[in-house]
Amino acid sequence: MTNVLLEKKGHYAVATINRPKALNALNSQVLEDLDELIGLVNADEEIRALVLTGAGEKAFVAGADIGEMSTLTKAEGEAFGKKGNDIFRKLETMPIPVIAAINGFALGGGCELSMSCDIRICADTAVFGQPEVGLGITPGFGGTQRLARLISPGMAKQLIYTARNIKADEALRIGLVNAIYPAAELMAAAEKMADTIAKNAPIAVRACKKAINEGLDADMDEALVIEEKLFGSCFETADQAEGMGAFLEKRKHEPYQNK
Ligand code: CAA
Repeated sequence: MTNVLLEKKGHYAVATINRPKALNALNSQVLEDLDELIGLVNADEEIRALVLTGAGEKAFVAGADIGEMSTLTKAEGEAFGKKGNDIFRKLETMPIPVIAAINGFALGGGCELSMSCDIRICADTAVFGQPEVGLGITPGFGGTQRLARLISPGMAKQLIYTARNIKADEALRIGLVNAIYPAAELMAAAEKMADTIAKNAPIAVRACKKAINEGLDADMDEALVIEEKLFGSCFETADQAEGMGAFLEKRKHEPYQNK
Protein backbone atom coordinates (compact mmCIF):
# COMPACT_ATOMS: atom_id res chain seq x y z
CA MET A 1 0.00 0.00 0.00
CA THR A 2 1.57 3.29 -1.09
CA ASN A 3 -1.60 5.36 -1.22
CA VAL A 4 -2.74 4.55 2.31
CA LEU A 5 -0.39 4.57 5.31
CA LEU A 6 -1.05 2.70 8.54
CA GLU A 7 0.59 3.53 11.85
CA LYS A 8 -0.17 1.49 14.95
CA LYS A 9 -0.08 3.34 18.27
CA GLY A 10 -0.75 0.95 21.14
CA HIS A 11 -4.37 -0.16 20.89
CA TYR A 12 -5.40 2.30 18.18
CA ALA A 13 -4.08 3.07 14.72
CA VAL A 14 -3.93 6.03 12.35
CA ALA A 15 -4.58 5.52 8.63
CA THR A 16 -3.67 8.28 6.19
CA ILE A 17 -4.87 8.58 2.60
CA ASN A 18 -1.58 9.44 0.95
CA ARG A 19 -1.87 11.08 -2.44
CA PRO A 20 -1.31 14.70 -1.47
CA LYS A 21 -0.28 15.94 -4.95
CA ALA A 22 -3.84 15.20 -6.13
CA LEU A 23 -5.36 16.34 -2.81
CA ASN A 24 -5.79 12.64 -1.92
CA ALA A 25 -8.33 12.14 -4.74
CA LEU A 26 -9.67 8.60 -4.87
CA ASN A 27 -8.55 6.77 -8.00
CA SER A 28 -8.89 2.98 -8.38
CA GLN A 29 -5.49 2.39 -6.79
CA VAL A 30 -6.31 4.45 -3.70
CA LEU A 31 -9.62 2.60 -3.37
CA GLU A 32 -7.85 -0.76 -3.62
CA ASP A 33 -5.31 0.30 -1.00
CA LEU A 34 -8.15 1.39 1.26
CA ASP A 35 -9.74 -2.02 0.79
CA GLU A 36 -6.45 -3.70 1.73
CA LEU A 37 -6.10 -1.44 4.77
CA ILE A 38 -9.56 -2.44 6.03
CA GLY A 39 -8.58 -6.12 5.70
CA LEU A 40 -5.32 -5.55 7.60
CA VAL A 41 -6.98 -3.66 10.44
CA ASN A 42 -9.81 -6.20 10.72
CA ALA A 43 -7.24 -8.99 11.03
CA ASP A 44 -5.31 -7.23 13.80
CA GLU A 45 -6.87 -7.91 17.19
CA GLU A 46 -4.66 -5.32 18.88
CA ILE A 47 -6.32 -2.42 17.05
CA ARG A 48 -9.44 -1.30 18.90
CA ALA A 49 -10.13 2.04 17.17
CA LEU A 50 -8.99 3.69 13.94
CA VAL A 51 -8.41 7.33 12.99
CA LEU A 52 -8.68 8.12 9.26
CA THR A 53 -7.16 11.31 7.85
CA GLY A 54 -5.59 12.76 4.70
CA ALA A 55 -1.92 13.51 3.97
CA GLY A 56 -0.82 17.13 3.67
CA GLU A 57 -2.35 20.28 5.08
CA LYS A 58 -4.92 21.01 2.39
CA ALA A 59 -7.18 18.04 1.99
CA PHE A 60 -8.81 15.13 3.69
CA VAL A 61 -9.93 13.83 0.27
CA ALA A 62 -10.95 16.17 -2.61
CA GLY A 63 -13.23 13.58 -4.18
CA ALA A 64 -13.13 10.70 -6.57
CA ASP A 65 -10.51 11.14 -9.29
CA ILE A 66 -12.09 13.33 -11.98
CA GLY A 67 -9.39 12.45 -14.56
CA GLU A 68 -10.06 8.74 -14.17
CA MET A 69 -13.85 9.21 -14.27
CA SER A 70 -13.92 11.60 -17.22
CA THR A 71 -13.93 8.91 -19.95
CA LEU A 72 -16.05 6.24 -18.28
CA THR A 73 -18.94 4.63 -20.14
CA LYS A 74 -22.31 4.07 -18.50
CA ALA A 75 -21.36 0.50 -17.50
CA GLU A 76 -17.90 1.55 -16.30
CA GLY A 77 -19.44 4.40 -14.29
CA GLU A 78 -21.79 1.99 -12.56
CA ALA A 79 -18.90 -0.39 -11.86
CA PHE A 80 -16.76 2.45 -10.42
CA GLY A 81 -19.69 3.46 -8.18
CA LYS A 82 -20.05 -0.13 -7.00
CA LYS A 83 -16.34 -0.39 -6.30
CA GLY A 84 -16.45 2.70 -4.08
CA ASN A 85 -19.74 1.71 -2.46
CA ASP A 86 -18.54 -1.82 -1.62
CA ILE A 87 -15.33 -0.55 -0.02
CA PHE A 88 -17.04 2.28 1.88
CA ARG A 89 -19.64 -0.20 3.17
CA LYS A 90 -16.79 -2.42 4.41
CA LEU A 91 -15.37 0.62 6.20
CA GLU A 92 -18.76 1.50 7.69
CA THR A 93 -19.26 -2.06 8.97
CA MET A 94 -15.75 -2.61 10.35
CA PRO A 95 -16.20 -4.03 13.85
CA ILE A 96 -14.17 -1.26 15.50
CA PRO A 97 -15.03 2.46 15.61
CA VAL A 98 -13.51 4.70 12.94
CA ILE A 99 -12.98 8.43 13.55
CA ALA A 100 -12.61 10.68 10.49
CA ALA A 101 -10.15 13.49 11.28
CA ILE A 102 -11.05 15.88 8.45
CA ASN A 103 -8.05 18.08 7.91
CA GLY A 104 -9.17 20.11 4.87
CA PHE A 105 -11.26 19.59 1.72
CA ALA A 106 -13.81 16.78 2.07
CA LEU A 107 -15.58 17.06 -1.27
CA GLY A 108 -17.60 14.52 -3.23
CA GLY A 109 -16.08 11.10 -2.51
CA GLY A 110 -14.15 12.72 0.37
CA CYS A 111 -17.31 13.85 2.13
CA GLU A 112 -18.77 10.41 1.37
CA LEU A 113 -15.69 8.71 2.85
CA SER A 114 -16.05 10.71 6.06
CA MET A 115 -19.73 9.76 6.26
CA SER A 116 -18.78 6.07 6.16
CA CYS A 117 -16.87 6.59 9.42
CA ASP A 118 -18.53 6.41 12.83
CA ILE A 119 -17.49 9.85 14.06
CA ARG A 120 -16.41 13.02 12.20
CA ILE A 121 -14.32 15.79 13.73
CA CYS A 122 -12.64 18.47 11.63
CA ALA A 123 -10.11 21.25 11.44
CA ASP A 124 -11.34 24.85 11.34
CA THR A 125 -9.99 24.90 7.76
CA ALA A 126 -12.17 22.01 6.56
CA VAL A 127 -14.54 22.44 3.62
CA PHE A 128 -17.38 20.02 2.86
CA GLY A 129 -19.58 19.55 -0.17
CA GLN A 130 -21.08 17.29 -2.78
CA PRO A 131 -20.08 19.13 -5.99
CA GLU A 132 -21.09 16.32 -8.34
CA VAL A 133 -24.07 17.89 -10.12
CA GLY A 134 -21.74 20.73 -11.08
CA LEU A 135 -19.70 18.09 -12.94
CA GLY A 136 -22.69 16.42 -14.57
CA ILE A 137 -22.94 13.38 -12.27
CA THR A 138 -24.63 12.33 -9.04
CA PRO A 139 -22.74 11.62 -5.82
CA GLY A 140 -21.59 8.06 -6.43
CA PHE A 141 -20.01 6.67 -3.27
CA GLY A 142 -23.09 6.75 -1.02
CA GLY A 143 -23.63 10.52 -0.78
CA THR A 144 -27.28 10.52 -1.80
CA GLN A 145 -27.99 7.92 0.88
CA ARG A 146 -25.74 8.71 3.83
CA LEU A 147 -26.04 12.52 3.79
CA ALA A 148 -29.85 12.29 3.79
CA ARG A 149 -29.71 9.89 6.74
CA LEU A 150 -27.05 11.76 8.68
CA ILE A 151 -28.40 15.32 8.49
CA SER A 152 -31.95 16.37 7.61
CA PRO A 153 -33.16 15.14 4.20
CA GLY A 154 -34.07 18.72 3.24
CA MET A 155 -30.58 20.05 4.01
CA ALA A 156 -28.98 17.06 2.26
CA LYS A 157 -31.04 17.78 -0.83
CA GLN A 158 -30.11 21.48 -0.71
CA LEU A 159 -26.38 20.71 -0.48
CA ILE A 160 -26.50 18.08 -3.23
CA TYR A 161 -28.74 20.05 -5.65
CA THR A 162 -26.84 23.33 -5.23
CA ALA A 163 -23.36 21.69 -5.17
CA ARG A 164 -22.45 24.43 -2.66
CA ASN A 165 -19.40 23.94 -0.44
CA ILE A 166 -19.74 24.67 3.26
CA LYS A 167 -17.17 25.56 5.90
CA ALA A 168 -16.53 23.80 9.19
CA ASP A 169 -18.86 26.00 11.26
CA GLU A 170 -21.83 25.23 8.99
CA ALA A 171 -20.93 21.52 8.98
CA LEU A 172 -21.08 21.62 12.79
CA ARG A 173 -24.39 23.50 12.80
CA ILE A 174 -26.11 20.96 10.52
CA GLY A 175 -24.70 17.96 12.41
CA LEU A 176 -22.29 16.71 9.76
CA VAL A 177 -19.37 16.91 12.22
CA ASN A 178 -19.26 16.54 16.00
CA ALA A 179 -16.54 19.11 16.75
CA ILE A 180 -14.11 21.61 15.20
CA TYR A 181 -10.49 22.03 16.32
CA PRO A 182 -7.71 24.42 15.31
CA ALA A 183 -5.95 22.60 12.46
CA ALA A 184 -2.78 22.03 14.51
CA GLU A 185 -4.79 20.35 17.29
CA LEU A 186 -7.00 18.07 15.18
CA MET A 187 -4.86 14.93 15.17
CA ALA A 188 -4.14 15.11 18.89
CA ALA A 189 -7.88 15.38 19.54
CA ALA A 190 -8.68 12.48 17.22
CA GLU A 191 -5.98 10.29 18.75
CA LYS A 192 -7.09 11.17 22.29
CA MET A 193 -10.64 10.09 21.37
CA ALA A 194 -9.35 6.85 19.78
CA ASP A 195 -7.23 6.13 22.88
CA THR A 196 -10.22 6.76 25.17
CA ILE A 197 -12.34 4.36 23.11
CA ALA A 198 -9.53 1.78 23.06
CA LYS A 199 -9.30 1.80 26.86
CA ASN A 200 -12.96 0.79 27.23
CA ALA A 201 -14.00 -2.87 27.05
CA PRO A 202 -13.40 -3.66 23.35
CA ILE A 203 -16.05 -6.38 23.01
CA ALA A 204 -18.64 -4.03 24.48
CA VAL A 205 -17.54 -1.16 22.20
CA ARG A 206 -17.83 -3.39 19.14
CA ALA A 207 -21.23 -4.61 20.30
CA CYS A 208 -22.40 -0.99 20.66
CA LYS A 209 -21.31 -0.23 17.08
CA LYS A 210 -23.09 -3.32 15.77
CA ALA A 211 -26.25 -2.55 17.77
CA ILE A 212 -26.38 1.07 16.58
CA ASN A 213 -25.63 0.30 12.92
CA GLU A 214 -27.88 -2.73 12.61
CA GLY A 215 -30.60 -1.17 14.77
CA LEU A 216 -30.80 1.88 12.51
CA ASP A 217 -31.64 -0.43 9.59
CA ALA A 218 -34.39 -2.26 11.53
CA ASP A 219 -37.75 -1.27 13.02
CA MET A 220 -37.75 -0.46 16.76
CA ASP A 221 -39.00 -3.88 17.91
CA GLU A 222 -36.33 -5.73 15.91
CA ALA A 223 -33.73 -3.13 16.91
CA LEU A 224 -34.37 -3.68 20.62
CA VAL A 225 -33.95 -7.45 20.15
CA ILE A 226 -30.61 -6.78 18.44
CA GLU A 227 -29.60 -4.76 21.51
CA GLU A 228 -30.81 -7.42 23.96
CA LYS A 229 -28.77 -10.16 22.29
CA LEU A 230 -25.60 -8.06 22.19
CA PHE A 231 -26.16 -6.89 25.79
CA GLY A 232 -26.52 -10.53 26.84
CA SER A 233 -23.38 -11.58 24.98
CA CYS A 234 -21.29 -9.21 27.12
CA PHE A 235 -22.06 -11.28 30.23
CA GLU A 236 -19.89 -14.14 29.08
CA THR A 237 -16.81 -11.90 28.78
CA ALA A 238 -13.93 -11.63 31.23
CA ASP A 239 -13.93 -7.85 30.73
CA GLN A 240 -17.52 -7.58 32.04
CA ALA A 241 -16.56 -9.65 35.12
CA GLU A 242 -13.54 -7.42 35.70
CA GLY A 243 -15.37 -4.13 35.03
CA MET A 244 -18.28 -4.85 37.36
CA GLY A 245 -16.08 -6.64 39.90
CA ALA A 246 -13.80 -3.62 40.12
CA PHE A 247 -16.77 -1.31 40.68
CA LEU A 248 -18.13 -3.48 43.48
CA GLU A 249 -14.71 -3.82 45.08
CA LYS A 250 -14.25 -0.03 44.82
CA ARG A 251 -11.04 -0.29 42.80
CA LYS A 252 -9.94 0.74 39.30
CA HIS A 253 -10.44 -2.00 36.76
CA GLU A 254 -7.41 -3.75 35.28
CA PRO A 255 -6.71 -2.91 31.62
CA TYR A 256 -9.35 -4.65 29.51
CA GLN A 257 -8.16 -7.81 27.79
CA ASN A 258 -10.54 -7.99 24.83
CA LYS A 259 -11.80 -11.29 26.19
N1 CAA B 1 -9.72 14.47 -8.95
C1 CAA B 1 -8.51 14.51 -9.56
N2 CAA B 1 -7.57 15.43 -9.27
C2 CAA B 1 -7.87 16.34 -8.31
C3 CAA B 1 -9.09 16.34 -7.65
C4 CAA B 1 -10.05 15.34 -7.99
N3 CAA B 1 -11.23 15.23 -7.37
N4 CAA B 1 -9.10 17.36 -6.77
C5 CAA B 1 -7.92 17.98 -6.89
N5 CAA B 1 -7.16 17.36 -7.82
C6 CAA B 1 -5.81 17.71 -8.27
C7 CAA B 1 -5.84 18.90 -9.22
O1 CAA B 1 -6.16 18.49 -10.53
C8 CAA B 1 -4.43 19.42 -9.08
O2 CAA B 1 -3.56 18.61 -9.84
P1 CAA B 1 -2.41 19.29 -10.75
O3 CAA B 1 -1.51 19.97 -9.73
O4 CAA B 1 -1.78 18.12 -11.41
O5 CAA B 1 -3.09 20.25 -11.64
C9 CAA B 1 -4.12 19.14 -7.61
O6 CAA B 1 -5.05 18.18 -7.18
C10 CAA B 1 -4.29 20.38 -6.75
O7 CAA B 1 -5.59 20.87 -6.95
P2 CAA B 1 -5.91 22.39 -7.35
O8 CAA B 1 -4.76 23.00 -8.09
O9 CAA B 1 -7.25 22.41 -8.02
O10 CAA B 1 -5.98 23.06 -5.90
P3 CAA B 1 -6.83 24.33 -5.47
O11 CAA B 1 -6.38 24.68 -4.10
O12 CAA B 1 -6.78 25.40 -6.51
O13 CAA B 1 -8.36 23.84 -5.39
C11 CAA B 1 -10.11 22.30 -4.82
C12 CAA B 1 -8.72 22.85 -4.45
C13 CAA B 1 -11.17 23.41 -4.63
C14 CAA B 1 -10.40 21.15 -3.85
C15 CAA B 1 -10.11 21.82 -6.28
O14 CAA B 1 -8.99 20.97 -6.49
C16 CAA B 1 -11.33 21.07 -6.70
O15 CAA B 1 -12.38 21.68 -6.93
N6 CAA B 1 -11.23 19.73 -6.80
C17 CAA B 1 -12.31 18.89 -7.25
C18 CAA B 1 -13.36 18.73 -6.16
C19 CAA B 1 -14.53 17.90 -6.67
O16 CAA B 1 -15.25 18.29 -7.56
N7 CAA B 1 -14.72 16.71 -6.07
C20 CAA B 1 -15.79 15.81 -6.44
C21 CAA B 1 -15.32 14.83 -7.46
S1 CAA B 1 -16.63 13.88 -8.12
C22 CAA B 1 -16.88 12.61 -6.99
O17 CAA B 1 -16.27 12.57 -5.95
C23 CAA B 1 -17.89 11.60 -7.41
C24 CAA B 1 -18.30 10.64 -6.38
O18 CAA B 1 -19.13 10.94 -5.56
C25 CAA B 1 -17.78 9.31 -6.35
